[in-house]
Formats: sequence, C-alpha cells, structure tokens
Amino acid sequence: MRVPVGVAISGSGSNLQALLDAFSADDAPAQICVVVSNRADAAGLDRARRAGVPAVVLPHQGRPRAVFDAELAQVFVDHGAQWVCLAGFLRVVGPSLLDRFPGRVLNIHPALLPAFPGLHAQAQALAAGARVTGATVHFVDGGVDTGPLIAQGAVPVLPDDDLPALQARVLAMEHRLYPLVVRLAAEGRLWLEGRAVRAALRPGESLSLLG
Ligand code: GRF
Repeated sequence: MRVPVGVAISGSGSNLQALLDAFSADDAPAQICVVVSNRADAAGLDRARRAGVPAVVLPHQGRPRAVFDAELAQVFVDHGAQWVCLAGFLRVVGPSLLDRFPGRVLNIHPALLPAFPGLHAQAQALAAGARVTGATVHFVDGGVDTGPLIAQGAVPVLPDDDLPALQARVLAMEHRLYPLVVRLAAEGRLWLEGRAVRAALRPGESLSLLG
C-alpha cells in the first residue's frame, strides 16, 4: 500500500510538484493524499487539483496559532496522512500539529542549515559572500529551521550570480532532495531516535548531494 503523505504549502508549490511527479505511479511507495494551503491564492493548489489530489484552503488569519495548527493536523488526519511535508509553508508549526505526527513532519529549507535559517535564505547566502549554499530537508521540531537534519544538497554560488540565478539553482536541488527523503520515509527507512536521524540506506544512496 502506498503511504499517504500530506503536504502544506503557501505559494508556488514547485516542491509539491516534484513530490507529485515522483510519487504519481501506482507502485510508488508514497501517495500525496492532500495539499493544504494557508493562502487561497497559492498556485500550488492548482498543481494539486491538476493531479487529482484534494486541495484544502485553511486561512491562518484570525486564528490563534494552536487552533490553526490543530485544524491543520485534523485535515491531515482526516485524509489519512502518515507523514506531513512542509513545502514552502510560511508558518511555524507547534505542538498541536507535531504531537499528532511525532517524528513524521518534514520541512525543506533553501540553505545548508544551520547556516541561513529563516526567510530569504538565498539572499542571506549572497550577502554573506558564501561560496557554497544549498538545500536541507529536516525533521520539524517547532523552532525556525532548527530540527534534526536529514539530507543536504550543495550548490555553488557563482561569481556573477544574482538572486534569481541562485534561487533557481537551489530550487533545482530542492526538487532532487525532497523526493529522495520522502521515499525513505515512505519505505520505513527513515526515523528519529531522540534527535538523532537514522536512515537505512541502500548501496549507492546518499543523504548528501552535490549540484
Ligand atoms: C522553497 O525555496 C522552499 O525551500 C522555501 O520556499 C520555497 C518554496 O518554493 N521554504 P515552492 O513553493 O516549493 O515552489
């Protein structure tokens, strides 16, 4: 049986698209079972609808954080999600969600954490003069990009990079990295012991990619 995975987005949803594409086959290990956006105008909602996946809008405005998180968790539970992927979801999630999916909430961040957490990570890397940056998939722990690191992909920062060029290179790496991690999760080959990340890798598999 394919493992149901819920995805939370706020915007374009290109990472969502990478997951939809990676797990569209009938014999894929995972299946995207629902997509939730806190913004009604998120383009990713159409990506979900085009793929025949339920697309749910859950506005965060006017709701206390814990209430919003509990409602978000309920949407995932109602759709049978066993794992939750945050994919460009611009909200910090807390215990009302995390306690319903212990050790089963993932996030992707456009930098090599712990460098450049928070917003505008690629701009932070450019401003700092970093020569290498990349993307990270990590378990979510309630902090801002502070959870245990699972997989990272490095990309160079080239001398004449501007922000769009660097963002595109990092995003391409994100699209490789997230499906790789979700596959491990769905196949039962990724888990947390305390804050230690455990992964049962096969020959040739790696959690460090180079772009
Ligand atoms: C990605 O860079 C993601 O890492 C960050 O926001 C961006 C979302 O892109 N958190 P998309 O919505 O997946 O296209």
